[in-house]
Amino acid sequence: MNKSDAQKRSEELSKLLNEYSYQYYVLDNPEISDYDFDMFMQELKDLEEQFPELITPASPTQRVGGMALNKFEKVNHAVQMLSLQDVFSFEQVESFVQKCHDELTDAEFSVEPKIDGLSVSLEYENGIFTRGSTRGDGFVGEDVTANLRTIRSIPLKIDNAPEFLEVRGEVYMPQESFFSLVEQQELKGDVLFKNPRNAAAGSLRQKDSKITAKRRLDIFIFNVQQVNGRSYDTHTQSLDDLKAMGFKVLPSYKICREASEIKAEIDRIGNERAKFGFDIDGVVIKVNRLSQRDIMGSTSKTPKWAVAYKYPPEEKETKLLDIEVNVGRTGAITPVAVFEPILLAGTSVSRAVLHNQDFIDEKDIRIGDIIVVRKAGEIIPEVLRSVSHEECSFKFNLPALCPVCGTPSVRDDGESVLRCPNVACPAQLLKNMIHFASKNAMDIDGLGEANMKLFVESGMVKSPADLYILKKEQIIALERFGEKSAQNLIDAIEASKRNEADRLIFGLGIRNIGQKAATLLCEKFGGIDELLTAGKDEISSIEGFGDVMADSVFNALRESHTIELIRRLKEYGVNMSYSKKTVGDSRFSGLTFVLTGTLPTMKRDEAKALIERFGGKVSGSVSKKTSFLVAGEEAGSKLVKAQELGIEILTEDELLEKTK
Ligand code: IVH
Repeated sequence: MNKSDAQKRSEELSKLLNEYSYQYYVLDNPEISDYDFDMFMQELKDLEEQFPELITPASPTQRVGGMALNKFEKVNHAVQMLSLQDVFSFEQVESFVQKCHDELTDAEFSVEPKIDGLSVSLEYENGIFTRGSTRGDGFVGEDVTANLRTIRSIPLKIDNAPEFLEVRGEVYMPQESFFSLVEQQELKGDVLFKNPRNAAAGSLRQKDSKITAKRRLDIFIFNVQQVNGRSYDTHTQSLDDLKAMGFKVLPSYKICREASEIKAEIDRIGNERAKFGFDIDGVVIKVNRLSQRDIMGSTSKTPKWAVAYKYPPEEKETKLLDIEVNVGRTGAITPVAVFEPILLAGTSVSRAVLHNQDFIDEKDIRIGDIIVVRKAGEIIPEVLRSVSHEECSFKFNLPALCPVCGTPSVRDDGESVLRCPNVACPAQLLKNMIHFASKNAMDIDGLGEANMKLFVESGMVKSPADLYILKKEQIIALERFGEKSAQNLIDAIEASKRNEADRLIFGLGIRNIGQKAATLLCEKFGGIDELLTAGKDEISSIEGFGDVMADSVFNALRESHTIELIRRLKEYGVNMSYSKKTVGDSRFSGLTFVLTGTLPTMKRDEAKALIERFGGKVSGSVSKKTSFLVAGEEAGSKLVKAQELGIEILTEDELLEKTK
């Protein structure tokens, strides 16, 4: 085929594939089979391989992810990406509606589901998707174009588009994608995402867009930020137009006038949310006429023409059928409630944590009771209370012996958790082994839960050290393994010997010592040998380490089984040192930070440990003495106060930048 024919055919194929993607991903109504789709895609790929000059950023082949980035570029938002004022009762919605009616003539509202994901902006020049970015602090976000391109419902090219268009939408992970992702993570022994929103945020902020491409994210568009060459009178009109352009717009937006109509819509959405297949965390009520929005105005963070009504966390009653006893990696013996399955936040649940015996006693929860279970966005639901004891109800007591190995359980001073003290307890061994090999610890590929179970149950592996003397023939003898997979595993185990020592410390599974703490220990002492001889005071002098953590490390390293394990690992060639040891860097010394809102990737504790590592202090409240406020999504009163006091506000990225 010559170049001009190839160009013609590639344009035809792009058009076809875009149309089919639209039917499949936006309308959910595919007109051709997956097979035919793949065939057209392959044909386009072949053409582009032959004539690379035909590849454009808007080509349907560009959705699979490309080269990994070192960092995300900053994007200044031309139109601030405002946040929303939350309200938690219908009375508050009523007073918002009343205020609008007082100030506006004939006010009408758009009532929409509030999608629980993360906000992004998409820019189109002459119909071509040119840039996409995260919200960041509303003024400056990050360029995540490559990642957004992998979302199939985002059009890469729009026909009949205005010359410039910026839209805003919510990227989310459908519940189905989330559950299959967590299932895979469980199998691999990876750390699990807590909920679809975290999973969506983690996936969108991947430097490697190939990973994002595998995460099956989706988007709902909910606003026009800027448009040149077209104008709208109302917000709903603009949404209708976006829909016509091929965007996947919010699943519903209803025009309401009176508070009673709004209430009916809030109830409808609330009743149907379980069937949506994606998480929502409320309903947004917005003044619909754009000219009227200007009359209402905005504060520095939120518009005065909209509010977000947040549903209370879903609670349901069910019957407590049994209490099972689980033995964790650290030997913690925890009660788990097993109840008649109920649908909560869109998924069927039948188990929930009961924490410990004190919790059960204080709430007088008995097997057979009618209980109330709640799920507030987390995967693991919890039992809130018992509503009533039934005739057949009976009290439950955690067993005095470990249900797995029969060793008498112990309760440490001042702790409410019961523990199995037997380090060789099979329940602990398997979980410890899974933890040892997991992604954030020794990162041994191919040793997830299922395979580790085989090794432990066959008796081949009784300690992490045993992994390093496994022979290929022994592995091949197990079902599931062949010549190649056994060799791959041997190679992965071998490679793990070269890990930095912080992975090993984390992998040892010392109580209270997470990943960050393991790194801090290495940074202070440089490796395991030095740590073995460190005094308790030296350990507790690490910023962010309390006595409990210091005691935990100090005592664990004096237990004979840990000493023996380290001795063997050393003998087999596992690296015991840490090359990234930094000299005391106290660049934040004298500075006080306050954390607020949900940071995109870091947990509060992580951000705190990071600040403290560089000598900074973290305080719980904003005052004149605060040097920086680190603000994430849905930052509330602390942000307002910091702005009033003129305190510098940092995003997570800006904080990270300061530690580079
Ligand atoms: S409107 C100026 N509408 O909620 C208007 N936001 O808590 C700003 N969100 O950051 C937002 N669904 O990411 C709007 N239907 C919807 C929404 C929505 C989800 C998110 C949005 C925003 C956050 C505020």
